[in-house]
Amino acid sequence: QRFFLNQVVENSIIIDDSEGLGRLFEGVGAISGGGATSKLLINYEERLRGQILDYLFKPNFGASLQILKVEIGGDVQSTDGSEASHMHNSWDENYHRGYEWWLMKEAKKRNPNIKLYGLPWGFPGWLGEFTLSPYAAPEVTADYIIKWVNGAKEVHNLTIDYVGIWNEYKYNITYIKTLRNMLNSRGFKNTMIIASDSRWEILPDIIKDESLADAVYAIGVHYPGTNSPSNAKELGKILWASEDYSTFNDEVGGGCWARTLNQNYVNGLFTATIAWNLIGSYYEHLPWFRSGLMTAVQPWSGHYNVSTPIWVTAHTTQFTSIGWKYFGHGNGVGKLSKGGSYVSLTNEARDELTIVIETMTHDHSICVRPALPQYDVYPQNVTITLKGSFANLPYMNVWHSKLGFNGSEDQMFLKKKPLTFKNGQAILLLGIDEIVTLTTVSTGNKGSYTQPPEPQLFPIPYKDNFEGLQISQEPYNLVPQAGSFEAVKSKDVSHGVVIRQTVLQQPIESCPWFLKFPIAIIGDQQWTDMTVEVDFEIPKVNGTSGVFVAARVDRGSCPVESSQGIFFFVVPNSGKFVVSNDLVMSKVLTQGQLTIGSGWHKLSLTVTRGNSTGSVDSKELFNIATPSSPLHGWAAMGTDGFGYADFDNLNIISAK
Ligand code: GAL
Repeated sequence: QRFFLNQVVENSIIIDDSEGLGRLFEGVGAISGGGATSKLLINYEERLRGQILDYLFKPNFGASLQILKVEIGGDVQSTDGSEASHMHNSWDENYHRGYEWWLMKEAKKRNPNIKLYGLPWGFPGWLGEFTLSPYAAPEVTADYIIKWVNGAKEVHNLTIDYVGIWNEYKYNITYIKTLRNMLNSRGFKNTMIIASDSRWEILPDIIKDESLADAVYAIGVHYPGTNSPSNAKELGKILWASEDYSTFNDEVGGGCWARTLNQNYVNGLFTATIAWNLIGSYYEHLPWFRSGLMTAVQPWSGHYNVSTPIWVTAHTTQFTSIGWKYFGHGNGVGKLSKGGSYVSLTNEARDELTIVIETMTHDHSICVRPALPQYDVYPQNVTITLKGSFANLPYMNVWHSKLGFNGSEDQMFLKKKPLTFKNGQAILLLGIDEIVTLTTVSTGNKGSYTQPPEPQLFPIPYKDNFEGLQISQEPYNLVPQAGSFEAVKSKDVSHGVVIRQTVLQQPIESCPWFLKFPIAIIGDQQWTDMTVEVDFEIPKVNGTSGVFVAARVDRGSCPVESSQGIFFFVVPNSGKFVVSNDLVMSKVLTQGQLTIGSGWHKLSLTVTRGNSTGSVDSKELFNIATPSSPLHGWAAMGTDGFGYADFDNLNIISAK
């Protein structure tokens, strides 16, 4: 077997549209959210932020994305943080929270043709009349989603092209039909429903329920492993891989993405593929670090990385548009007999042709899920024969990538000499782990900026009085893991802009369990020693029972509620303070009486290898031996259960 590996074999691709074409191409996209995956991006200095956005969205520059899918925030932890709902409560409506509006506008600014897609991961608790199901009152939930679509239009002039149901949770047929009807009657006929952003659960229902099939524009499946069941293909319904990729963005991640983009159509007839996630802008040690098309986790240094998936994406997106069509299987779409795959696409006038070929080997293109069955790929010479509308093409432009393994450098998205056709034929030499785009399109371009600044540690001392924030915005660098934190104007003018925890009751979670302690983390998960202080006030109306500041908080995401650390709670309602080794106060280290009045107070916590001390308004309340575990973690602040609490003047005086 080994012996044949380097032997070059002959192979052929025939491009022919004379017997008709395949399905409509609906784009390559990426997801911001699910959750808080773009959190740190907005805090980059304008110039560097603009560069990153150009790599993602600017046509003929980098990934040139065709779809942007965003989370419709639901005040719930949805993977790397929680994103704010536009309606924390039934009486509340606000379209200035979070960063998804901003991101959508930046994307549209660069590419007015980009399609927008919104999907909730979870919902605020008041929906579903407090049943913790979003489907108990379908019109209420549909109204909530349509308000978001309408807010996009009215407040931000953004047209939402697609909405989904509930990420990777149960769908509800009555709800889907209700949403469709209400979208129609509220002027959003052109906002299409993608369902159900899960596995194939909805397929049998779509097969047997015609009006459900009519309500759903495309079946959106997650991580299909490039395959569709035969009844899905035969149905003729549009199929999307509405979430895919989710793989560490090194060379193997690039390989995964290249194989997925082609083979999702070749094997599965998926006509759109959307990567989770757009940009890995969340702290290291949160889950799925670097599982974005590129990475930007250091707003303080400005450092970012343009990773291989950016250029892999460009191989398709820079040479196609939504609305082009794939060729038929065997006539421009298929597998190479010695491994790899090819897709061909043309525009409506059939005067443009793009062929994307990939030869990713098995071990160099494994995605995070599902498992990838073994297969072989060999170097091969491919004869390309042009027939039909393109029989007389004299040449095609060539763009080439080779992912670098075993010490060789990546060669990404390089323009090569055009490929000349004689009598409609040309021979292409293909190695392994390569992507080649052959195209009549001449606008391809590998954009670049000078190297971004070098990485640096989180800056200490770190002070934030939140005065720089727009009202309703989230604080920079402080990352909500449960609950929702946003800028409000304090009644006390001397405090100006402060940060409020705003969630008042249990939301409908995206995590498999309920999170009851709103918490926002900041800094570096490797910190062992630190002094953190923050001012707080608990409002009289809807106030929480208590607040905390914490050090060495060791985890985020859904497991945040099992996080260990040193948590210093002040619970004025019960007249006490509690120092606990965990967020849920099950491992109390010490506690005592504390009587404080209403108004603002200062909470401070110092943790060193030897001892930990804490004070309220400069009065020391405890001095204890620091518990042996955990050894390191983020700084954090939050509340004892739901309810309002205001925070100001976050000050990380020292940390290492
Ligand atoms: C998906 C989920 C995303 C993210 C991803 C990580 O199932 O929808 O939000 O958690 O997994 O692989």
